[in-house]
Amino acid sequence: MNPALETLVLALAEHRVGTQNVLFLGAEPHPDLPTLTAWQPLKPLANACERAGMVLTEYPTGQFPTVLFLPGKSKEETLAGFAMAHRCLAEGGVFITAMANTAGAARFEKELGNVTPLLFSVSKHKCRAFGVSNKSPWDGQILEEWQKLAEPQTIPETSFVTQPGVFSAKHIDPGSLLLAAHMPVSLRGNVADLGAGWGFLSSVALEKSPNISQIDLFEADARALDCARKNVSGNVNFHWHDVTTGLPDVYDHIIMNPPFHTAQSKDVDLGKAFLTVAAAALKRNGTLHIVANRQLPYEAHLRELGLRSRSIAEDHAYKVIFASK
Ligand SMILES: C[S@@+](CC[C@H](N)C(=O)[O-])C[C@H]1O[C@@H](n2cnc3c(N)ncnc32)[C@H](O)[C@@H]1O
Repeated sequence: MNPALETLVLALAEHRVGTQNVLFLGAEPHPDLPTLTAWQPLKPLANACERAGMVLTEYPTGQFPTVLFLPGKSKEETLAGFAMAHRCLAEGGVFITAMANTAGAARFEKELGNVTPLLFSVSKHKCRAFGVSNKSPWDGQILEEWQKLAEPQTIPETSFVTQPGVFSAKHIDPGSLLLAAHMPVSLRGNVADLGAGWGFLSSVALEKSPNISQIDLFEADARALDCARKNVSGNVNFHWHDVTTGLPDVYDHIIMNPPFHTAQSKDVDLGKAFLTVAAAALKRNGTLHIVANRQLPYEAHLRELGLRSRSIAEDHAYKVIFASK
């Protein structure tokens, strides 16, 4: 269980905060939480929240007497989340957030405390949970700055739109650039992009290969997929989807820069699960175009899946693997 979530639930109980009509931003399930409204842009966690009986909302509206927030990794996303929480707080409501000490809990507690007085702070499980209320005023100018942090931005010298919190929001990922440089011009038929992010690899594939008839983007992060809708056009389908659950179709070619992190920690099995799903969804003679960190043991896994593979390019950090079924 996420230790920040444990600390959040502890603070909720210790400070006897109301549990009627709760909004949980960045929600994750916990057995001690009441039935609540959940906002969770990551599909695997959204699925888990739904299974736990939470009511999912695509975009939180309305006002709640209690708002909880588990932030993601980026500073901008965290501060924008504080502003979102304020927007959703009913009069006299309480807002609690929690994060790991290593994720900058003390710094964020100070930032929130500069905007409105802190009500309480709980330290446990190497995490910190802290709460404020809107009985006291919040600094409107800082709130406005935080709100702006969630707005879409453009990657310098490109027309690609991204958003804070999504993968590689400030620049094109160098691994994906290496794959783009070695992507063939001969892709045709149906193509899938697994873990498509804000759409860079799909847009390169469509630009390079005029014979692609359709491309399906599969991505877990709803915010990244919203950016991809602005970045990729043509005969394109966008799927808010957990790739590890399998794909609904079969493909002539699959392109991907597979994830190998879950929340804060490394998870090579997630990358391997992407390969397993891709191998199952490739048509006979279909091809797989992958970029990965050099040290990841993907070739052995591809062999186990019955695919032939070879590395076609490498730099100091990444390798491009071509595999066929
Ligand atoms: C290494 S990034 C590559 C993103 C994009 N293809 C690019 O080149 O910029 C991996 C992507 O996989 C997504 N992801 C992680 N777990 C996923 C899952 N279970 N199902 C679908 N996508 C997932 C992440 O949100 C992230 O956007």
